[in-house]
Amino acid sequence: MTVLEVICALAHDATVGIVVTDTLIEAPGPTIFYANPAFGRLVGRDLNDIVGQCPRFMHGKETRQETLDTFRRALTAGERFHGFLTNYRADGTKYRVEIDCRPLRAADGRIENFVAFEREVVRRIGRPATSATGRYEPTSVSNDSLTVALRALAVFEHV
Ligand SMILES: Cc1cc2nc3c(=O)[nH]c(=O)nc-3n(C[C@H](O)[C@H](O)[C@H](O)COP(=O)(O)O)c2cc1C
Repeated sequence: MTVLEVICALAHDATVGIVVTDTLIEAPGPTIFYANPAFGRLVGRDLNDIVGQCPRFMHGKETRQETLDTFRRALTAGERFHGFLTNYRADGTKYRVEIDCRPLRAADGRIENFVAFEREVVRRIGRPATSATGRYEPTSVSNDSLTVALRALAVFEHV
């Protein structure tokens, strides 16, 4: 089983959004070829309307170009991207999303896919930023087995 097959097998019931693309970074890529139901709920779209698309469909007026540039540079360098973006659902509502995107490499080191773990966050009010998410906190917290496994992989951590 490849890493990708393991992720897809576990992702279906996960509460965190999971999306897998190919490696074509320049527009019209990257192309999504897998998204789990939690990702569909996050972006407010049917999975059939997501697969085959490029993640740029979530961009809008308040999506920060500077963060997108950092994102693209990380993808181009084959590095992890961890950051926060303002995105838009199909109905136009905006949300703040935390994204942890990583390259999936074959045994020979070649990048075969990108996988992103995504969750909605809100700006923390009043309390000091002591957690890993700093200024933001997730809108929901879960402890399903994949979330626990992802924590072990430092997903959403500032590493
Ligand atoms: C696996 C993966 C998931 C992504 N998810 C998002 C996302 O949820 N929201 C978003 O705005 N961009 C997302 N992107 C980034 C865009 O697809 C694109 O790479 C980014 O906009 C930078 O490229 P550009 O400057 O050419 O637009 C994702 C990219 C990858 C590879």
